[in-house]
Amino acid sequence: MDYNATTPIFPEVVEEMQPYLTEHFGNPSSVHIFSQECKNSIQRARVAVKELMGADRDEEVVFTSCGSESNCLAINIGLEAYFSHHPNKSQVDPPHIIASSIEHPSVLNHLSHLENNQTISLSIISVNERGVVSVESVKREIEVLKPSNQFLLVDRITGRTWLW
Ligand SMILES: Cc1ncc(COP(=O)(O)O)c(C=O)c1O
Repeated sequence: MDYNATTPIFPEVVEEMQPYLTEHFGNPSSVHIFSQECKNSIQRARVAVKELMGADRDEEVVFTSCGSESNCLAINIGLEAYFSHHPNKSQVDPPHIIASSIEHPSVLNHLSHLENNQTISLSIISVNERGVVSVESVKREIEVLKPSNQFLLVDRITGRTWLW
């Protein structure tokens, strides 16, 4: 079992962060000298994370303030990629998203907002008493979609995607 979103911070992380909470707390987006130390440190962290994850470019590493922001950003980036292949948004069916009813509220609320403003169409599928999505309910959802559709499966924990 993990800490279920109540994880204490590693002492090494506290130590590493200490100077930025007490001394180098400049706004990294500002142009003055005081902010440059922060900006440079963020860039060093970005390169370290990039190398750790085997990403190709620095810009692939995006730091967010929390899990909820990451969820919304990931959904928006996915939609942006979709619409970049369909530049005339009004001539294309909105993408259909199937989500389980036990996604985090930051996912469900954002999807519901996107459905309300007609950016996507949405199905929410329930889970059984053990919290597991039934394969049958996913199949039912997929069957009603047009056969010509492409499907993208996203693992919310690892971020891994499958396209078929
Ligand atoms: C899958 C998932 N998304 C989002 C969050 C929310 O994270 P935050 O409180 O950092 O916004 C959590 C928190 O437990 C989570 O487990």
